[in-house]
Amino acid sequence: TMAPPRLTVIGTGYLGATHAICMAVLGFEVLGVDVDEGKIAKLASGEVPFFEPGLPELLAKALESGRLRFTTSLAEAGAFGDVHFVCVGTPQQPGSDACDLSYVDAAVRGLAPHLDRRTLVVGKSTVPVGTAAGLTTLLHELAPAGTDVELAWNPEFLREGFAVDDTMRPDRLVFGVASDWADARLRAAFQPILDQGTPVIRTDLATAELVKVAANSFLATKISYINAMAEVCEAVGADVKDLADSLALDDRIGGKFLKPGLGFGGGCLPKDIRAFAHRAEELGVGQAVSFLREVDAINRRRRARTVDLVRELLGGRISGARIAAWGAAFKPNSDDIRDAPALDVARTMHGLGGHVRVYDPAALDNARLAFPELRYGESALDAARDADVVVLLTEWADFREIDPGALGEVVAHKRIVDGRHALDAAMWREAGWEYRALGRS
Ligand code: UDX
Repeated sequence: TMAPPRLTVIGTGYLGATHAICMAVLGFEVLGVDVDEGKIAKLASGEVPFFEPGLPELLAKALESGRLRFTTSLAEAGAFGDVHFVCVGTPQQPGSDACDLSYVDAAVRGLAPHLDRRTLVVGKSTVPVGTAAGLTTLLHELAPAGTDVELAWNPEFLREGFAVDDTMRPDRLVFGVASDWADARLRAAFQPILDQGTPVIRTDLATAELVKVAANSFLATKISYINAMAEVCEAVGADVKDLADSLALDDRIGGKFLKPGLGFGGGCLPKDIRAFAHRAEELGVGQAVSFLREVDAINRRRRARTVDLVRELLGGRISGARIAAWGAAFKPNSDDIRDAPALDVARTMHGLGGHVRVYDPAALDNARLAFPELRYGESALDAARDADVVVLLTEWADFREIDPGALGEVVAHKRIVDGRHALDAAMWREAGWEYRALGRS
């Protein structure tokens, strides 16, 4: 058996910071690396630079143990680590569906010359299939002559809001490796998780890259499928909530990711399906995943339909109406506003001349910074004061728990659009509200 490898984690954003902290808590010596000095300083002083339940406590524990340190130096990383995890971002390129690989490229280029022993470099970032093959070549070109380095791929499936649990107790681990040695090193780097009985799929690098985008494409497709059914329901006066509940009880289908509503957003699903469609086209197999374009289109139409529902409820005019927009984050229990359907809808209504006031329990500061043109409330009730209509856009528990009677006291008109099927329609109607939801009559 090998001694536990020393780990570095390059890129301490959402994925990397979580990985570094969890690995240190599991007993490894870990060095977190980032080009952003501010981020490194925060993490080193015990502050998690984003919202993630449970992570600040684990960061404190990891720092206290002395097993977790941070640096901005890739030279230090090369000198320290036996296994290097590359966790940098791969955002969508402006004006294109392709993803920007410059950070991944820079991480490998920056690290390779400092590798001084037999080393494993492990990609975790979400990349277009084929990237690992190119990085392997690059690594061999740039590593010092005589140094034996290998590249492996280990996709990450963590969800925001559940990042700690998903990292500590993943459903599965996927090891894309080119040799038994790389497989053994990865196993050593995940030993405490393997000891829990976590299943491992050992495969080639390209398959490992594909697993991630295939999984996210499937999830996005499932959401758009039920939202497509919502469109059909709207045309015929049927009820997509009852439809979804009925489908969910077929255990071949299942209820997860089958919740109809405003659709998906965030830093992963939208960009991943676009980049995958783009990559498949480059590979000459665009037709195989052309449905992903439709998945994206269905998802965007839900946003437009939500604005339509608000307009209908207002008797045909958004301009001049006072609108409370509940929610800004792309999903509850997150402060992330990347590609957030909620803010997209709020901005559209603002653009149409609505007086929109937004409230979100966690993402308010982020939303204010990104969209200073919108108005913001201090609470759900504050945002709803004198409103002509309330629009629920992110299904926070705070909104679900609001009493329709109390809310009725502060609004100008008791009208509500439930963009996430989060509320009990019968209860709101009994309390005198005009209640409308996507895919229900
Ligand atoms: C997702 C994947 O789940 C995760 O495995 C991957 O690593 C990163 O992308 P995340 O973006 O954190 O994670 O969010 P997730 O909880 O998956 O939700 C994605 C979006 O789908 C949210 O906007 C959510 O509101 C929406 N959604 C989810 C629905 O509209 N309906 C559903 O039934 C489920």
